[in-house]
Amino acid sequence: MNSEQISSLIHTGNVWMPYAGSEAARQTDYLFNFILWFSYLFFAIVILTAVYFFFKYRHTSKNPYPTSHITHNTRLELLWSIIPLILVMIVFYWGFREYLNLSTPPEDAIEIYVSGRKWMWEFTYPNGLRSTSELVVPVDQSVKLIMSSEDVIHSFFLPNFRQKRDVLPNRYSVVWFKAEKSGNYQVFCTEYCGDGHSQMLATLRVVSYQDYKAFLSGSADEDTPLPQLGEQLYKTQGCSACHTIDGRPSVGPTWKGLYGRSALLKNGQAVKADDNYLRQSIVDPAGQVVQGYEAVMPTYKGKLTDRELNGLIDYIKTLK
Ligand code: CUA
Repeated sequence: MNSEQISSLIHTGNVWMPYAGSEAARQTDYLFNFILWFSYLFFAIVILTAVYFFFKYRHTSKNPYPTSHITHNTRLELLWSIIPLILVMIVFYWGFREYLNLSTPPEDAIEIYVSGRKWMWEFTYPNGLRSTSELVVPVDQSVKLIMSSEDVIHSFFLPNFRQKRDVLPNRYSVVWFKAEKSGNYQVFCTEYCGDGHSQMLATLRVVSYQDYKAFLSGSADEDTPLPQLGEQLYKTQGCSACHTIDGRPSVGPTWKGLYGRSALLKNGQAVKADDNYLRQSIVDPAGQVVQGYEAVMPTYKGKLTDRELNGLIDYIKTLK
C-alpha cells in the first residue's frame, strides 16, 4: 500500500474501529471484538430463550399452572456462574496485559514532549525543535509522548493507535505508539476545554527516518517569502483555531481586513491595528484586548522568531 491508499484508509469512516496503525492497536481490536461478539452471542441466547419461554409457559385458561414449583437447579446455577466467571477472567487477563503494554513505552522510544494549551498542541523534539499543530515522527520507531498542560485538563487522542490519555497541568502523563505506515493521522483533544475545544486538533505526520532527520535539522526554508511563511505559521502555530481569514467571527477577531482597522479596547482606548499593534498582540495578547473578546490567547513571546513575526504580520496585510 502506498501512503495515499493509507491516507484514504485512515480517513474512511464506518461503523467499525478506525484503521489500526500499529501492532498494539490491532491487539486492542482483537480484545474489543472478542467482547463485542461474545456480547452479541449472549444477547441472542438470553433474548431468544426468553421469547421461547414466553410462549411455552404462557398462562392460559386451559393450562393455569404451566410450571411446577421449582426452588433451584444446582447444575444450572453452577453453569451460569462458572462460564461467565471464566469469560470475565479471560477479559480481565487479556485487558490488563494490553493495558500494561499500552502504558509501558519500550526503552528505545524517541521522547517527545507534548504541551496542551487553549487551544493548540505544541511538540518539543529531542534536539529542542518545536512544532505546533503538527507532530512529525519516523515510521517503524517507538515514540513516547510526555505530556502536560499549561492551563486546563486536555486529552490527547490518537484514534488510529487506540491511545488516549488526559493531559493535566502540573503533572506528566505518557502515551506511546509505533506507526507501521507513513501518512497523516488525526490528533484530537477529547476533553472539553472551552470555546476552541473542537478546533484543538493536530496532524500526526509519520515520515521516513531520513525525512524525520531533515525535519529536525530545521530545513525551514529561509527563502520562503514572508506572506507565505505567515500563511504556514497561521496553520501550524494554532492561529487558525481562533482567528478566521474569511470574516467569520470566532474566539478571536477575524484577520480579514484586520490590518489598518480601528478597534476599541476593553479599557476604552481606541487603537489602530498597525504593525506595532499586531506584533504587540502576538507577544503580549493580554495587554490590548479588543472589546467583545476574552483574554484567552496564549503568549507567543520567545516562541516565534522576528522573521516569523514579520511573516505573520505580512500575511495579515494580504487579507484585505
Ligand atoms: Cu483541549 Cu479540548
